[in-house]
Amino acid sequence: EGEWVLMVTAKAPSNISVIKYWGKRNEALILAVNESISITLDLDHLCATTTVAVSPKFEKDRLWLNGKEMSLSSDRYQNTLREIRSRGDNFEDDEKGIKIMKEDWMRLHFHIASHNNFPTGTGLASSAAGFACLVFALAKLMNVKDDMSQLSTVARLGSGSACRSLHGGFVKWVLGKDEKKGKDSFAIQLEDEKHWEDLVILIAVVSSQQKEISSAKGAPLTVATSPFLHYRAKEVVPKRIVEMERAIQSRDFATFAKLTCADSNQFHATCLDTSPPLFYMNDTSHRIINCVEKLNRHEGVPQGAYTYDAGCNGFLFARDRKAAALLLQRLLYYFPPNPDTDLSSYILGDKSILK
Ligand code: PMV
Repeated sequence: EGEWVLMVTAKAPSNISVIKYWGKRNEALILAVNESISITLDLDHLCATTTVAVSPKFEKDRLWLNGKEMSLSSDRYQNTLREIRSRGDNFEDDEKGIKIMKEDWMRLHFHIASHNNFPTGTGLASSAAGFACLVFALAKLMNVKDDMSQLSTVARLGSGSACRSLHGGFVKWVLGKDEKKGKDSFAIQLEDEKHWEDLVILIAVVSSQQKEISSAKGAPLTVATSPFLHYRAKEVVPKRIVEMERAIQSRDFATFAKLTCADSNQFHATCLDTSPPLFYMNDTSHRIINCVEKLNRHEGVPQGAYTYDAGCNGFLFARDRKAAALLLQRLLYYFPPNPDTDLSSYILGDKSILK
């Protein structure tokens, strides 16, 4: 006892919602007011890499985010760490002479170092990748036997959208009925990552500046002040979830595009309906929306779709590679890469489109 350090490194991707989660019915447990559906990105682009270490030498839990030490005192971290610790199992490594009993996890401390390969806090779902990665890495370290859906309930305690990053492909975060513990509010995989290979995702990085109001602060304001949010959660989203599941299952791009754009716009309308109003998109975001809408009108059959989270950066979807090239051509025409526009770069789901 005393000298050893155990370490695990994991990588987890971001996910981008096409039916949005915004607002909680239970703040502490992070239970959403409505269900949401997302697509998990690949590991080459937006992802978090996290190393977790445990040792009897460590005197307290510590976290470094992108190289900077951060506090772990928030409820989100505390709840996530407590819950994952309680799921730890016995661990033995005869060679190194390490033996950890289940109950030891409660008193051992972690050092956590996490890194995002993209700008943090800009509406590119950094908390989703971060908490999914943290939970996955700690689960591996502590020999947790849970499946991905069970683990997703732990990631959810850190950031709601993080629960959806435990699965690849097309994912739904179900509402659940357990209002006391939130055990059944987890993420399930609708389709795997191979299901819709034609679909191309483009990311329009409008700005890498941090947003003013985080989703953790903004969403409760919307819940407290926007009548529209409650109408949306009750009357609109349940129907859209059913339609979106059907569109994804049948790879129906026209319906997928219509629902995705409508849901992004409605989410931002609830932000505007918040008091004081939350402005996440900027003029460039709006111009990109126009560009996609115009392309779709011009082509007759939808070729592209857009969605924005709590930030000005956009996620674009194209029907296929041909449509992606068309879309990109238009975007580059309106936003030629020069230092005067704030649309600094495009990261692409498929880099070859850039050539
Ligand atoms: O997981 P949070 O608390 O950061 O909320 C994110 C909410 C949105 O990204 C705006 C929408 C979503 O469904 O991911």
